[in-house]
Amino acid sequence: MSKIVFITGATSGFGRAAARRFAAGGWSLVLCGRRVERLQELQNELREQVPVHIAALDVRDAAAVQQVVAELPEDFRQIHALINNAGLALAPMPAQKVDLADWHTMIDTNVTGLVNVTHALLPTLIKTGAGASIINIGSTAGQWPYPGSHVYGATKAFVQQFSYNLRCDLIATGVRVTDIAPGMAETEFTLVRTKGDQAASDRLYGDTTPLAAEDIAEQIFYVANLPDHINFNRLEVMPTRQAWSAFAVDRD
Ligand SMILES: NC(=O)c1ccc[n+]([C@@H]2O[C@H](COP(=O)([O-])OP(=O)(O)OC[C@H]3O[C@@H](n4cnc5c(N)ncnc54)[C@H](OP(=O)(O)O)[C@@H]3O)[C@@H](O)[C@H]2O)c1
Repeated sequence: MSKIVFITGATSGFGRAAARRFAAGGWSLVLCGRRVERLQELQNELREQVPVHIAALDVRDAAAVQQVVAELPEDFRQIHALINNAGLALAPMPAQKVDLADWHTMIDTNVTGLVNVTHALLPTLIKTGAGASIINIGSTAGQWPYPGSHVYGATKAFVQQFSYNLRCDLIATGVRVTDIAPGMAETEFTLVRTKGDQAASDRLYGDTTPLAAEDIAEQIFYVANLPDHINFNRLEVMPTRQAWSAFAVDRD
């Protein structure tokens, strides 16, 4: 029996690249996201390689998450790896100019959604035991502040601390927990963050060499396939051409 990976946010970016990487590695796939037609396209693409189950899911809806897990077909029940990838940033402007609704959307998706899925799948992951993995997609923004990051960075700081705290409780279960924290990567992330501004997205990723979705998918696959006794707590990955900058100073 092949191992099964459960990926949230499989319709784009890291999640879709991870689905392709795990399929190439022979894992069966459970793929979730809100855009059903994209899930169907991915299922059609990968079902020749491995068994693929898709489920339309908004991770913010705890009851829907529980239903998707309860209704997993028999062959997809024994999850070996959960990739908590669904997430987004919004409102890349100063905190004082942001709509409250955008802050709520980020918290509901990146924090509440991630704990909804984790809670629903913990029993099956613990049943899998040694070698099972929870891989949470955090961000460099969870560790390093920058202007316009406000609630987004704070949600990713939650992801980091939740990952560490889970480790404490899961120590005797064999279930590993990793916070993978990417820096700048070219996906639909900036298009979503700017509410559809393709030019802003092109400007951000242009004239430099950002990470590609496939780079992070490779790290996710690597972490999920480590020997059972190894736990990467946090893996921070940046493009070579990205680094920190000087502190800002307000002057008269
Ligand atoms: N790109 C970067 O520079 C970067 C850096 C660090 C961390 N990250 C993190 O990496 C993760 C993936 O982002 P990405 O860069 O691959 O962006 P992306 O291309 O926009 O993909 C985001 C994915 O999340 C899903 N999603 C968003 N809201 C959802 C919801 N309420 N319910 C279910 N699925 C939802 C989307 O699917 P649907 O819209 O179909 O639901 C999509 O598949 C996010 O957690 C993001 O914060 C990205």
